[in-house]
Amino acid sequence: MTIPARTTGVTAPASTRPAGAGPAGTGPADMSAQRAIWALGDYPSVARDLISGLGERLVRACGVRPGDRVLDVAAGAGNAAIPAALAGARVTACDLTPELLAAGRAAAAGAGAEVAWREADATCLPFPDATFDVVLSCVGVMFAPDHQACARELLRVCRPGGTIGVLSWTPEGFIGQMLAVTKQYLAPPPGARPAPWWGRPGYLADLLAGQVTAVTERTEAVRIDRFAGPAEFRDYFKARYGPTIAAYRQIAADAERVAGLDRDLADLAAVMTWAPAPRW
Ligand SMILES: C[S@@+](CC[C@H](N)C(=O)[O-])C[C@H]1O[C@@H](n2cnc3c(N)ncnc32)[C@H](O)[C@@H]1O
Repeated sequence: MTIPARTTGVTAPASTRPAGAGPAGTGPADMSAQRAIWALGDYPSVARDLISGLGERLVRACGVRPGDRVLDVAAGAGNAAIPAALAGARVTACDLTPELLAAGRAAAAGAGAEVAWREADATCLPFPDATFDVVLSCVGVMFAPDHQACARELLRVCRPGGTIGVLSWTPEGFIGQMLAVTKQYLAPPPGARPAPWWGRPGYLADLLAGQVTAVTERTEAVRIDRFAGPAEFRDYFKARYGPTIAAYRQIAADAERVAGLDRDLADLAAVMTWAPAPRW
Protein backbone atom coordinates (compact mmCIF):
# COMPACT_ATOMS: atom_id res chain seq x y z
CA MET A 1 0.00 0.00 0.00
CA THR A 2 1.17 3.55 -0.54
CA ILE A 3 0.05 6.45 1.63
CA PRO A 4 0.43 10.06 0.52
CA ALA A 5 1.95 12.60 2.91
CA ARG A 6 2.46 16.30 2.27
CA THR A 7 5.60 18.15 3.40
CA THR A 8 5.32 21.91 3.78
CA GLY A 9 8.39 24.03 4.42
CA VAL A 10 8.37 27.75 5.15
CA THR A 11 10.96 30.35 6.10
CA ALA A 12 10.33 32.47 9.18
CA PRO A 13 10.35 36.20 8.48
CA ALA A 14 13.26 38.48 9.27
CA SER A 15 11.65 39.55 12.53
CA THR A 16 9.00 37.89 14.66
CA ARG A 17 7.62 38.97 18.01
CA PRO A 18 9.78 40.69 20.63
CA ALA A 19 12.34 38.39 22.23
CA GLY A 20 11.17 36.73 25.42
CA ALA A 21 7.51 37.30 24.67
CA GLY A 22 6.71 33.66 25.56
CA PRO A 23 4.03 31.32 24.24
CA ALA A 24 1.61 32.84 21.74
CA GLY A 25 -1.23 30.45 22.72
CA THR A 26 -3.93 31.13 25.26
CA GLY A 27 -2.17 29.01 27.90
CA PRO A 28 -2.13 25.33 28.75
CA ALA A 29 -5.32 23.44 27.92
CA ASP A 30 -6.21 20.09 29.49
CA MET A 31 -4.52 17.57 27.23
CA SER A 32 -4.83 14.57 29.55
CA ALA A 33 -7.29 12.75 27.28
CA GLN A 34 -5.04 13.23 24.24
CA ARG A 35 -2.01 12.13 26.21
CA ALA A 36 -3.81 8.98 27.38
CA ILE A 37 -4.77 8.09 23.79
CA TRP A 38 -1.18 8.22 22.55
CA ALA A 39 0.05 6.16 25.49
CA LEU A 40 -2.25 3.29 24.48
CA GLY A 41 -0.95 0.34 22.49
CA ASP A 42 2.57 0.54 21.15
CA TYR A 43 3.02 3.64 18.99
CA PRO A 44 6.84 3.34 18.92
CA SER A 45 6.53 -0.01 17.16
CA VAL A 46 4.05 1.47 14.63
CA ALA A 47 6.53 4.25 13.84
CA ARG A 48 9.36 1.73 13.56
CA ASP A 49 7.45 -0.84 11.49
CA LEU A 50 5.62 1.48 9.09
CA ILE A 51 7.06 5.00 8.84
CA SER A 52 10.64 4.91 10.06
CA GLY A 53 11.85 6.57 6.84
CA LEU A 54 9.54 9.57 7.16
CA GLY A 55 11.46 11.43 9.84
CA GLU A 56 14.65 11.19 7.81
CA ARG A 57 12.84 12.50 4.70
CA LEU A 58 11.62 15.50 6.66
CA VAL A 59 15.07 16.20 8.09
CA ARG A 60 16.49 16.15 4.54
CA ALA A 61 13.67 18.31 3.19
CA CYS A 62 14.39 20.91 5.90
CA GLY A 63 18.08 21.00 4.96
CA VAL A 64 19.21 20.29 8.53
CA ARG A 65 22.96 20.87 8.87
CA PRO A 66 25.54 20.00 11.55
CA GLY A 67 25.28 22.44 14.44
CA ASP A 68 21.71 23.56 13.64
CA ARG A 69 19.45 23.97 16.65
CA VAL A 70 16.49 21.76 15.78
CA LEU A 71 13.16 21.31 17.57
CA ASP A 72 11.06 18.23 16.77
CA VAL A 73 7.48 19.02 17.87
CA ALA A 74 5.15 16.13 18.82
CA ALA A 75 8.23 14.01 18.34
CA GLY A 76 6.83 10.73 19.67
CA ALA A 77 9.77 8.35 20.02
CA GLY A 78 12.04 10.54 17.89
CA ASN A 79 11.28 9.50 14.31
CA ALA A 80 12.65 12.84 13.06
CA ALA A 81 14.66 13.91 16.11
CA ILE A 82 17.03 10.94 15.95
CA PRO A 83 18.02 11.31 12.27
CA ALA A 84 18.41 15.07 12.83
CA ALA A 85 20.81 14.39 15.70
CA LEU A 86 22.68 11.80 13.64
CA ALA A 87 23.06 14.50 10.96
CA GLY A 88 24.99 16.54 13.54
CA ALA A 89 22.24 18.92 14.69
CA ARG A 90 21.67 19.95 18.32
CA VAL A 91 18.21 18.51 18.79
CA THR A 92 15.39 18.95 21.28
CA ALA A 93 12.44 16.57 20.97
CA CYS A 94 9.20 17.49 22.70
CA ASP A 95 5.93 15.62 23.00
CA LEU A 96 2.80 15.44 25.12
CA THR A 97 3.22 11.77 26.05
CA PRO A 98 5.91 10.77 28.58
CA GLU A 99 5.72 7.09 27.59
CA LEU A 100 6.77 7.99 24.05
CA LEU A 101 9.56 10.25 25.26
CA ALA A 102 10.89 7.35 27.33
CA ALA A 103 10.84 5.10 24.26
CA GLY A 104 12.61 7.87 22.33
CA ARG A 105 15.33 8.16 24.96
CA ALA A 106 16.02 4.44 24.68
CA ALA A 107 15.96 4.49 20.87
CA ALA A 108 18.32 7.48 20.74
CA ALA A 109 20.73 5.80 23.14
CA GLY A 110 20.65 2.67 20.96
CA ALA A 111 21.37 4.72 17.85
CA GLY A 112 24.13 6.78 19.48
CA ALA A 113 22.15 10.01 18.99
CA GLU A 114 22.24 12.86 21.48
CA VAL A 115 18.76 14.38 21.90
CA ALA A 116 17.25 16.50 24.70
CA TRP A 117 13.75 15.23 25.54
CA ARG A 118 11.07 17.50 26.94
CA GLU A 119 7.41 16.98 27.80
CA ALA A 120 5.41 19.76 26.15
CA ASP A 121 2.08 20.65 24.60
CA ALA A 122 2.55 21.95 21.05
CA THR A 123 -0.08 24.59 21.78
CA CYS A 124 2.11 26.20 24.40
CA LEU A 125 5.79 25.39 23.85
CA PRO A 126 8.12 25.90 26.83
CA PHE A 127 10.86 27.61 24.81
CA PRO A 128 11.76 31.29 24.41
CA ASP A 129 11.13 33.04 21.12
CA ALA A 130 13.55 32.41 18.24
CA THR A 131 15.36 29.51 19.98
CA PHE A 132 15.69 27.18 16.98
CA ASP A 133 17.09 27.31 13.43
CA VAL A 134 14.75 24.53 12.28
CA VAL A 135 11.37 23.61 13.76
CA LEU A 136 9.88 20.45 12.34
CA SER A 137 7.08 18.00 12.98
CA CYS A 138 6.54 14.59 11.40
CA VAL A 139 2.85 13.55 11.44
CA GLY A 140 2.85 15.05 14.94
CA VAL A 141 1.61 18.61 15.46
CA MET A 142 -1.32 17.78 13.16
CA PHE A 143 -2.85 15.82 16.06
CA ALA A 144 -3.07 18.76 18.48
CA PRO A 145 -6.63 20.15 18.45
CA ASP A 146 -5.87 23.89 18.16
CA HIS A 147 -4.13 24.23 14.80
CA GLN A 148 -3.86 28.00 14.85
CA ALA A 149 -2.23 28.13 18.28
CA CYS A 150 0.25 25.42 17.25
CA ALA A 151 1.18 27.21 14.02
CA ARG A 152 1.81 30.40 16.00
CA GLU A 153 4.05 28.46 18.37
CA LEU A 154 6.06 26.85 15.55
CA LEU A 155 6.70 30.34 14.21
CA ARG A 156 7.44 31.92 17.58
CA VAL A 157 10.18 29.48 18.58
CA CYS A 158 11.84 29.57 15.13
CA ARG A 159 14.53 32.20 14.65
CA PRO A 160 14.02 34.89 12.02
CA GLY A 161 15.03 33.40 8.67
CA GLY A 162 14.84 29.85 10.06
CA THR A 163 12.94 26.91 8.60
CA ILE A 164 9.66 25.34 9.68
CA GLY A 165 8.93 21.92 8.14
CA VAL A 166 5.75 19.94 8.71
CA LEU A 167 4.99 16.52 7.27
CA SER A 168 1.28 15.57 7.45
CA TRP A 169 -1.08 12.85 6.28
CA THR A 170 -3.42 14.12 3.57
CA PRO A 171 -7.23 14.04 4.03
CA GLU A 172 -7.76 11.88 0.94
CA GLY A 173 -4.96 9.42 1.70
CA PHE A 174 -5.25 6.19 3.59
CA ILE A 175 -4.45 7.44 7.10
CA GLY A 176 -6.62 10.55 6.56
CA GLN A 177 -9.51 8.29 5.61
CA MET A 178 -8.82 5.95 8.51
CA LEU A 179 -8.97 8.88 10.93
CA ALA A 180 -12.28 9.95 9.36
CA VAL A 181 -13.72 6.46 9.93
CA THR A 182 -12.45 6.38 13.51
CA LYS A 183 -14.05 9.74 14.22
CA GLN A 184 -17.48 8.20 13.69
CA TYR A 185 -16.82 6.07 16.77
CA LEU A 186 -14.68 8.36 18.95
CA ALA A 187 -15.71 12.02 19.05
CA PRO A 188 -12.78 14.43 18.75
CA PRO A 189 -12.22 17.04 21.51
CA PRO A 190 -14.72 19.92 21.27
CA GLY A 191 -13.63 22.53 18.74
CA ALA A 192 -10.81 20.37 17.35
CA ARG A 193 -10.14 20.69 13.64
CA PRO A 194 -9.54 17.43 11.75
CA ALA A 195 -5.87 16.44 11.91
CA PRO A 196 -5.50 15.77 8.15
CA TRP A 197 -6.34 19.39 7.34
CA TRP A 198 -2.61 19.98 7.89
CA GLY A 199 -2.12 17.87 4.75
CA ARG A 200 -4.30 20.13 2.60
CA PRO A 201 -2.46 22.20 0.00
CA GLY A 202 -1.67 25.65 1.38
CA TYR A 203 -3.00 24.93 4.87
CA LEU A 204 0.11 25.77 6.93
CA ALA A 205 0.80 28.87 4.83
CA ASP A 206 -2.80 29.97 5.47
CA LEU A 207 -2.42 29.40 9.21
CA LEU A 208 0.68 31.61 9.11
CA ALA A 209 -0.88 34.03 6.66
CA GLY A 210 1.59 36.65 5.51
CA GLN A 211 4.07 35.84 8.26
CA VAL A 212 6.40 33.50 6.35
CA THR A 213 8.25 33.48 3.05
CA ALA A 214 9.53 30.85 0.62
CA VAL A 215 6.71 28.35 1.05
CA THR A 216 7.41 25.00 -0.58
CA GLU A 217 5.12 21.98 -0.65
CA ARG A 218 5.37 18.51 -2.00
CA THR A 219 3.37 15.33 -1.77
CA GLU A 220 5.08 11.97 -1.60
CA ALA A 221 3.90 8.45 -0.89
CA VAL A 222 4.89 5.99 1.80
CA ARG A 223 4.97 2.40 0.62
CA ILE A 224 3.91 -0.24 3.16
CA ASP A 225 4.06 -3.91 2.24
CA ARG A 226 3.75 -5.37 5.69
CA PHE A 227 0.16 -6.63 5.65
CA ALA A 228 -1.14 -9.66 3.80
CA GLY A 229 -4.70 -8.31 3.63
CA PRO A 230 -7.31 -5.92 5.07
CA ALA A 231 -8.05 -7.91 8.23
CA GLU A 232 -4.38 -8.13 9.13
CA PHE A 233 -4.02 -4.40 8.61
CA ARG A 234 -7.04 -3.70 10.87
CA ASP A 235 -5.89 -6.03 13.62
CA TYR A 236 -2.43 -4.47 13.66
CA PHE A 237 -3.86 -0.97 14.20
CA LYS A 238 -6.47 -2.28 16.64
CA ALA A 239 -3.69 -3.69 18.83
CA ARG A 240 -1.08 -0.91 18.58
CA TYR A 241 -2.33 2.50 17.38
CA GLY A 242 -3.67 4.70 20.20
CA PRO A 243 -6.48 6.48 18.30
CA THR A 244 -7.81 3.15 16.95
CA ILE A 245 -7.61 1.47 20.35
CA ALA A 246 -9.37 4.44 21.97
CA ALA A 247 -12.22 4.21 19.47
CA TYR A 248 -12.69 0.50 20.23
CA ARG A 249 -12.63 1.22 23.98
CA GLN A 250 -15.29 3.87 23.57
CA ILE A 251 -17.73 1.39 22.00
CA ALA A 252 -16.62 -1.77 23.82
CA ALA A 253 -20.02 -2.33 25.46
CA ASP A 254 -21.83 -2.26 22.12
CA ALA A 255 -21.05 -5.42 20.13
CA GLU A 256 -22.82 -4.12 17.03
CA ARG A 257 -20.73 -0.95 16.96
CA VAL A 258 -17.55 -2.97 17.49
CA ALA A 259 -18.50 -5.18 14.54
CA GLY A 260 -19.26 -2.02 12.55
CA LEU A 261 -15.84 -0.53 13.21
CA ASP A 262 -14.19 -3.88 12.42
CA ARG A 263 -16.00 -3.90 9.11
CA ASP A 264 -15.42 -0.23 8.29
CA LEU A 265 -11.66 -0.45 8.83
CA ALA A 266 -11.27 -3.66 6.85
CA ASP A 267 -13.47 -2.26 4.06
CA LEU A 268 -11.41 0.90 3.91
CA ALA A 269 -8.20 -1.10 3.66
CA ALA A 270 -9.74 -3.31 0.98
CA VAL A 271 -10.97 -0.39 -1.11
CA MET A 272 -7.86 1.73 -0.80
CA THR A 273 -5.13 -0.82 -0.93
CA TRP A 274 -6.19 -4.27 -2.02
CA ALA A 275 -8.80 -3.34 -4.64
CA PRO A 276 -7.86 -4.09 -8.27
CA ALA A 277 -7.52 -0.35 -8.94
CA PRO A 278 -6.06 1.29 -5.81
CA ARG A 279 -7.17 4.89 -5.28
CA TRP A 280 -3.89 6.76 -4.96
C1 LIG B 1 1.41 9.95 15.02
S1 LIG B 1 2.40 10.37 16.40
C2 LIG B 1 3.85 11.02 15.59
C3 LIG B 1 5.08 10.90 16.41
C4 LIG B 1 6.41 11.14 15.67
N1 LIG B 1 6.53 12.50 15.23
C5 LIG B 1 6.60 10.18 14.53
O1 LIG B 1 6.88 10.60 13.39
O2 LIG B 1 6.51 8.96 14.77
C6 LIG B 1 1.60 11.83 17.00
C7 LIG B 1 2.29 12.40 18.20
O3 LIG B 1 1.69 13.65 18.54
C8 LIG B 1 1.77 13.80 19.93
N2 LIG B 1 0.81 14.84 20.31
C9 LIG B 1 -0.53 14.82 20.16
N3 LIG B 1 -1.06 15.98 20.62
C10 LIG B 1 -0.02 16.74 21.04
C11 LIG B 1 0.09 18.04 21.60
N4 LIG B 1 -0.98 18.81 21.85
N5 LIG B 1 1.31 18.50 21.91
C12 LIG B 1 2.42 17.75 21.70
N6 LIG B 1 2.38 16.52 21.18
C13 LIG B 1 1.18 16.03 20.85
C14 LIG B 1 1.45 12.41 20.46
O4 LIG B 1 1.86 12.23 21.79
C15 LIG B 1 2.21 11.57 19.47
O5 LIG B 1 3.53 11.33 19.90
